[in-house]
Amino acid sequence: MHDDPLLQPYQLKHLTLRNRLMVTSHEPAYPEDGMPKARYRAYHVERARAGLALTMTAGSASVARDSPPVFNNILAWKDEVVGWLRELADECHGHGCAVMIQLTHLGRRTRWDKADWLPVVSAGHAREPAHRAFPKKAEDWDIARIIGNYADAAERMKAAGLDGIELEAYGHLMDQFWSPLTNHLDAPWGGSLDDRLRFTFETLQAIRDRVGPEFIVGIRYSGDEGLPGGLTKADGLEISRRLKASGLVDFLNVVRGHIDTDAGLTDVIPVQGMRSAPHLDFAGEIRAATDFPTFHAAKIQDVATARHAIASGKLDMVGMTRAHMADPHIVAKILAGEEDRIRPCVGANYCLDRIYQGGAAFCLHNPATGRELTMPHAVPKAAAARRVVVVGAGPAGLEAARVAALRGHAVTVHEAAKDPGGQIRLTARTPRRQEMIQVVQWRFAECERLGVAFRFNSFADGEAVLAADPEVVIVATGGLPHTEVLAEGDGLVVSAWDILSGDAQPGSNVLIYDDAGDYAALQAAEKIAATGARVEIMTRDRSFAPEVMAMSLTPSMRELQKRDVTFTVTWRLEAVRRDGNELLAIIGSDYGGVTRERRVDQVVVNHGTRPLDDVYFELKEASSNRGEVDYEALVAGRPQAVLRNPEGRFQLFRIGDAVAARNTHAAIYDALRLVKDL
Ligand SMILES: Cc1cc2nc3c(=O)[nH]c(=O)nc-3n(C[C@H](O)[C@H](O)[C@H](O)COP(=O)(O)O)c2cc1C
Ligand code: SF4
Repeated sequence: MHDDPLLQPYQLKHLTLRNRLMVTSHEPAYPEDGMPKARYRAYHVERARAGLALTMTAGSASVARDSPPVFNNILAWKDEVVGWLRELADECHGHGCAVMIQLTHLGRRTRWDKADWLPVVSAGHAREPAHRAFPKKAEDWDIARIIGNYADAAERMKAAGLDGIELEAYGHLMDQFWSPLTNHLDAPWGGSLDDRLRFTFETLQAIRDRVGPEFIVGIRYSGDEGLPGGLTKADGLEISRRLKASGLVDFLNVVRGHIDTDAGLTDVIPVQGMRSAPHLDFAGEIRAATDFPTFHAAKIQDVATARHAIASGKLDMVGMTRAHMADPHIVAKILAGEEDRIRPCVGANYCLDRIYQGGAAFCLHNPATGRELTMPHAVPKAAAARRVVVVGAGPAGLEAARVAALRGHAVTVHEAAKDPGGQIRLTARTPRRQEMIQVVQWRFAECERLGVAFRFNSFADGEAVLAADPEVVIVATGGLPHTEVLAEGDGLVVSAWDILSGDAQPGSNVLIYDDAGDYAALQAAEKIAATGARVEIMTRDRSFAPEVMAMSLTPSMRELQKRDVTFTVTWRLEAVRRDGNELLAIIGSDYGGVTRERRVDQVVVNHGTRPLDDVYFELKEASSNRGEVDYEALVAGRPQAVLRNPEGRFQLFRIGDAVAARNTHAAIYDALRLVKDL
């Protein structure tokens, strides 16, 4: 028997959970036609097989037609969901993992121009800033219908063999009834707290009438909205007590804050650079006040913090949700005494930000997550070991080396710098983004453990690469900033990288021309503005930083607004001229017909990178495949077999930004996808 508090079983009514780790409900936007099919199942099964105790599926599974998905959610109002969920539950149960699902009506947190074009409904007309729909104020027949919808959906979940359900009540219809900010109904559905809670208790009663007293029903709710005029902590505690006293629920899943704005959502689900476990004590207070089963998740990224959450009695079950997206095998690694090998969640929030843009959730640095049907979380050994040389130890090169070593190949990595990391090393220089360095550190540690040979300060040319007589060469040399975008004055500007690396000192009156729209411009702005300089970020796009997604933007905005950094959209920098001690920036527009000028003392251009590809082209002719990648084979997961030069003694591949400027996920995915079949 383990004495690790995290590994103690937990008894929730009749259900024995084998340890204290769960993933809380999170919709990764993997459904097909609104159904959790093979991909969805594989994603949850990967975690179940590795020892997770409880997986809370979905995230906001919709109970009603007028709650159209905001991010490809499961449609729990359709009967066909039962079969799909039964398959998922059966398979997870086969691995000893309990399965529940979150049900919801989104209320105003969606849009009317989705699915069936039904009006969005809420407890009042107040618009949610994040989704911008003006809701219909619920009528008696809406309320009766939706209560029935909840009960129907709960019954489907029971029929599917799930172990339980939880109702979502933060930012969705249920708590839109709770909050005085959003409930503008009259009695009996609005007004006093009793009346504002009526919808919830009637829904819970209707569910109980349908599923009986044994089926597990919980609720995930905000115990303190943290908004002027909203639900206070005192309200939250009172609601918690009433939920317990009702006898209708079996657990509380506690959240703190509000999610109606990007910034609010980011405080509820903190990202990189924000405090670890900021709401854990609050959840603990609710547990202490209610003495009732309490679950919670919010940036509990590491096992030590999770262990503390349980050992200190703050929680009964601890959610490590994004942490399991980064590494689904957390429990298996704890059990094997390999905690230090867990791939860390670095809070980049690529996963969650993507779903709000209509994409599927992918982990920035685990490309197998959400691709379990095609990408391995555990890379199997190859039939024959080969000599592999990797050029470049940025994220792509390190991943290539790691995966090649796991395949059993003999791997050498050349890196021109004295340390691994490439572009990520620069990113991580902004204190707020320090966590990014773990993307490098984890890979480097894994490579060292697997016996990869590293040659630092080695600016490898073709000869150096071929000295080891490799059978495979992978060029992952990344790119260099490209700033030559002006009609005149390219020589007068510096790059965002120059600012971040310290090669260029910040000016005092600075124009940042951001033509890439990614994080580099914001980080440069932050660094420059911190010196007290005046900073304007200009872009030709309709919005600033279009490649930086909502929640990742929040901490940056907080810094930039504090320092009065301004944003100018739809204007394009055309030329820069020297004018005495100053620079004259000539500004035009894609819309045409206008020109403006700015006088500044520094112009920073952010325009992505151009590939650093000399060594690739030096080696191309001599390689057996002349650098060609068979895309069909790559996508289908077959080995690369292009032969264009029978004399060639090695295959040559190029990955990451050495091919074209993309992002960290693309670089790492390039590497895993190629090398897993080498
Ligand atoms: C891709 C993604 C989708 C999510 N969707 C939901 C959701 O639909 N409902 C919900 O209550 N929480 C949702 N969450 C929030 C998680 O349940 C969890 O509270 C959050 O990720 C913080 O926990 P963590 O730091 O352990 O990841 C989502 C999270 C992610 C990463
Ligand atoms: S994308 Fe970032 S926040 Fe999301 S799981 Fe991966 S490392 Fe964690």
